[in-house]
Amino acid sequence: MWRDYFGPRTNLYGVDIQDACKACEKEGTRVFIGDQADPMFWEGVKEQVPKFDIVIDDGGHTPEQQRVSLDQLLPHMRPGGVYCCEDIHGFPNEFASYVHKLSHRLNDSKTIKENKDDNNRSLAGASNPFQARVNSIHLYPFMAFIELNDDRVTEFVAPKRGSIWDYEQR
Ligand SMILES: C[S@@+](CC[C@H](N)C(=O)[O-])C[C@H]1O[C@@H](n2cnc3c(N)ncnc32)[C@H](O)[C@@H]1O
Repeated sequence: MWRDYFGPRTNLYGVDIQDACKACEKEGTRVFIGDQADPMFWEGVKEQVPKFDIVIDDGGHTPEQQRVSLDQLLPHMRPGGVYCCEDIHGFPNEFASYVHKLSHRLNDSKTIKENKDDNNRSLAGASNPFQARVNSIHLYPFMAFIELNDDRVTEFVAPKRGSIWDYEQR
């Protein structure tokens, strides 16, 4: 199914805890058998595969399995990649909370400084390592998507438009 969707030249890597899934291996498709909640299992997988463009977690669906998989695989992804986790069920859901907490790192602004004498860099500051790599985090009903930047974002710059700030007019 994924080869039909992504194209015949796709390299597919599957993971499942059931040995029987090894039967799906063929040219261009590798299957690793192990527990997605085990960080050591992922360490072994990562030694054998190139970095991923797309990850789709449709495994055991427990928040712990989803969290460990995300922690292990997000750093093992290529720029421009997309991480997807499906079947985030239940209210409240611990994995959804974890992803939401991660998204706070996108709003880190401690390096941002005001430059009164440079309107082109009125507000500017270096990105943190998470902001450098992660473009956006989307939470939908039952699904989460994390999109990576094509190129590392090294800083954020907000030019000042116009000549007077709104608050200066009051
Ligand atoms: C909903 S099925 C999806 C299977 C496959 N992704 C598909 O779309 O056909 C969930 C799969 O996760 C596997 N699974 C359950 N717990 C797992 C775990 N701890 N680690 C890895 N795979 C697991 C199950 O064996 C099952 O095949």
